Amino acid sequence: MAATKRKLAGDVKSLSLAPKGKLRIEWANQWMPVLQLIRKRFQKEKPLKGVRVSACLHVTSETANLAITLRDGGADVVLCASNPLSTQDDVAASLVKDYGIPTYAITGENKKTYYSHLVSALEHKPQITMDDGADLVTMILSKRHDLLPGILGGTEETTTGVIRLRSMANDGVLKFPIVAVNDADTKHFFDNRYGTGQSTLDGILRATNVLLAGLKVVIVGYGWCGRGVAMRAKGMGSDVIITEINPTKALEAIMDGFRVMPIAEASKVGDVFVTVTGNKNVIAGQHFRQMKDGAIVANSGHFNVEIDIPALEKLANSKRRTRDFVDEYTLPNGRKVYLLGEGRLINLAAAEGHPAVVMDMSFADQALSAEYMVKNAKNLEAKVYPVPADIDQNVAKLKLKSLGVNIDTLTPEQAKYLASWSEGT
Ligand SMILES: NC(=O)c1ccc[n+]([C@@H]2O[C@H](COP(=O)([O-])OP(=O)(O)OC[C@H]3O[C@@H](n4cnc5c(N)ncnc54)[C@H](O)[C@@H]3O)[C@@H](O)[C@H]2O)c1
Repeated sequence: MAATKRKLAGDVKSLSLAPKGKLRIEWANQWMPVLQLIRKRFQKEKPLKGVRVSACLHVTSETANLAITLRDGGADVVLCASNPLSTQDDVAASLVKDYGIPTYAITGENKKTYYSHLVSALEHKPQITMDDGADLVTMILSKRHDLLPGILGGTEETTTGVIRLRSMANDGVLKFPIVAVNDADTKHFFDNRYGTGQSTLDGILRATNVLLAGLKVVIVGYGWCGRGVAMRAKGMGSDVIITEINPTKALEAIMDGFRVMPIAEASKVGDVFVTVTGNKNVIAGQHFRQMKDGAIVANSGHFNVEIDIPALEKLANSKRRTRDFVDEYTLPNGRKVYLLGEGRLINLAAAEGHPAVVMDMSFADQALSAEYMVKNAKNLEAKVYPVPADIDQNVAKLKLKSLGVNIDTLTPEQAKYLASWSEGT
């Protein structure tokens, strides 16, 4: 452990920002009652005592509360950013100054600094990794095999990371167990749908201040996030168009009351485009050429590869920044296309990410999955595991309790009826 104590102060924009960050962390905490309950238990039981945790997550006020919870559970935590644009610099400063949690994250950091921060987080020699997009695991498996003997396991926060890790497991490349926090019902039902749904529009509005009512909003991908964005855009009066590659999801979008068409058609009619697929180049060069003058293009999927930005750069005659988070590209046909937040997660780049009340459940799943991993790692293989059902159910129960909502329980007769194949005649 001594080796990890060296230069653990972290790397943040300025420690003078800490007072504002502390207020933000405390504000988020008020909206995270489930995590508060877990923290209280962790303070007493110390289930993570002495466990080194390296977490690569969006450095926001909600994440700060997770890091504090893990620390209160006895963990030795360091944090680095999982995205160069999503860091709240004041929160990062407060984590270092007020909570003594080494944090490596500066908004707008370039690629080199971003990766040097991952390197710093790994110098902590983690026993547990916590990722949002599998960057730590990828770096360990490609460059830091020396760390493998000390690693118990890890957790993964988002859809894209889980997909990457599953393919690593299938190819036999993954070397330690991972819990897919994203796949917990109490995570993606709420975080991806309601959290991304609301905050993506928040990011687009803060960046542009457009009136969504009456605009044609094209949503590329009707998964958990896409449904959330569509639902909220509809609520704000937009004419929502969905593009999909999955026939079932496309059908669902139709029955939810949306128009569905290929991106080649949608690109001609849309005013605002939002990508949420976890895939690459879903809006490509030929689509930009067809867009209306003034079209706004944003991404809320994990990586900045959903929009083919190199194609847009190549196509455009000129580019200028017209507002914070808004780049105007003038195309050879004279039309202008506006790319928001350099194609990075717009809800984190231009807004504040998910509301704390949603992250409460996701991070409750994270904290309990870390505890589960510490207790069970020796019995797990190098695979991607679901969050155990009892953790998922428990998080939902605690959340309901915090909302003051009671629900019914099965009567013994109903439990017997549901459990037996011979009942029901
Ligand atoms: N912005 C955030 O804060 C935030 C939060 C959670 C998840 N995410 C990220 O958002 C992305 C989507 O997550 P999700 O949970 O909705 O995933 P999901 O798997 O539920 O949905 C993705 C959808 O995109 C569709 N799709 C794939 N390629 C497509 C294409 N070329 N054209 C149209 N549709 C296509 C798929 O069929 C699927 O329905 C992931 O990258 C995830 O990591 C972001």
